[in-house]
Amino acid sequence: MANPKSHLFALLLLHFSTVSLAQTLFVFGDGLYDAGNKQFVSSNRVDASFPPYGITLGEATGRWSDGRIVPDYLASFMGISQIPPILRATADFSHGANFAIADATVLGAPPESMTLSQQVIKFSENKNKWTAKARSEAIYLFYIASDDYLNYAKNNPNPSDDQKQAFVDRVIAAIEAELKVLYGSGGRKFAFQNLAPLGCLPAVKQANGNVQECVRLPSEMAELHNKKLLQLLVELSRQLSGFQYSFYDFFSSIQNRVIKSKTYTFETGMAACCGTGSVNGTSCSTSNVCAKPEDYLFFDGKHLTQEGNLQVGHLIWGSDPEVVGPNNLRELLFLPLDITATLANIQEAMAATMPRQIKIESLYDIKKMESEMENQWLYQVDKATSFLI
Ligand SMILES: *[C@@H]1O[C@H](CO)[C@@H](O)[C@H](O)[C@H]1NC(C)=O
Repeated sequence: MANPKSHLFALLLLHFSTVSLAQTLFVFGDGLYDAGNKQFVSSNRVDASFPPYGITLGEATGRWSDGRIVPDYLASFMGISQIPPILRATADFSHGANFAIADATVLGAPPESMTLSQQVIKFSENKNKWTAKARSEAIYLFYIASDDYLNYAKNNPNPSDDQKQAFVDRVIAAIEAELKVLYGSGGRKFAFQNLAPLGCLPAVKQANGNVQECVRLPSEMAELHNKKLLQLLVELSRQLSGFQYSFYDFFSSIQNRVIKSKTYTFETGMAACCGTGSVNGTSCSTSNVCAKPEDYLFFDGKHLTQEGNLQVGHLIWGSDPEVVGPNNLRELLFLPLDITATLANIQEAMAATMPRQIKIESLYDIKKMESEMENQWLYQVDKATSFLI
C-alpha cells in the first residue's frame, strides 16, 4: 500500500494545480481595522475622516492611522485590492468586506458603533454577495475586545481575580458564539490578532498620570483574554470539523516595540506621533502631528502608524510559529478544506511543495505547538507582571 503521506502529497499537488484560491477576506473588529465604517454611523465629526489621519497617503479615508492599516497589507499580500467598508453602499465587495468599526466591543451596546455580534449579523445579511465556496475558502480576520477591557478597567479599578476571570469568560463566550455563527455559514479559516498590552497605549498611560510605566490592569486583562482566546481556538479546532485558525501574538510584538523601539526601527514606542499631553495621548489634530510618522509606533493615543501596521502585517502573513501559530496567514490560506489529515501532515506536505519556505520556517507538530504556546503564555504572564510592576 502506498505511504499515506505520499498519497496526501499527491492530493495536495492536485489541489494546488486544480483549485484557484477564492482570495476573499472578511474583517471584523474595532478602530485598528476600521477602513471607514465609523463615518457612516456617526452623527459627530469622525477624526479619521480628516487630516492628519491619512497624511502619509495624502488622503483621509476613515482609517485610524497616518496611512494603511493591517487588513490593507494582508489583502495586498493575498493579491487582492483593499477590502471596502461594508457600510459604503457603492463598493466592490467581490473579494470580501470589512465590518470593523471604531469603538466596537464584544459586550454591551457601543454608541454609534457595532458589537461583534452586530458585525456578524451584517455579514449574515450580506452573505449572498459571496458564493458558498468563496465563504468557505475565505479568511475571517479579527481584532476585537480592547474597548471591552479598557472600559472594564476604567469602571472597576480593583477587581478580584475571580471577577477579572469572570469578565474574560463572558467576552470569550460571546466570541465563541459568533465564531460558531460564521462557521455555520461556511467559514473555516479564522485569523486572530490577539490583544495588545492595553496599559501601554499612550492614551491609557497618559490618563493614568504616570507615563513611565504601562498601566497594569488593562494589560493584565488583555493577557488573561489572550490566553483564554487561544484555548478557545484550540478547543474549536477539535470540536468543529475543518475549523482552522491562525493566532498572532500581537501582545508580544507591541511589548517588544515599546521596550526596544530602536531595534524595530522606531525612535519611540512610548509617545504617539500625533496628539497633546506628555506622550501625545489625546486630541490628535493637524496642529500637533509629528514630522516623521514612520519614526513612531503609535500614530495617535490608541492606534499604530502605517509603519507599525506594515510590520504587523508582515508578521501575520509570514512569520514563524513563535509569533503566529499554528499557521501563519499564508499557510492558512493554502490549507485545503477537504482533506481529513492532521494539520501537521498537511503542513509537512505543503512545505515539500515550497522548498524555499523550509529554510525560514520550522515544521511543527501541532500538539507540541499548543503546549509550547501554553508555556509561552505562562512565561509571559510572569514577564509582563514583573515588567508592569
Ligand atoms: C508629540 O507630538 C509632537 C508633534 O506635535 C512631536 O514633535 C513630539 O515629539 C511628540 N512627543 C514625543 C514625546 O514624542
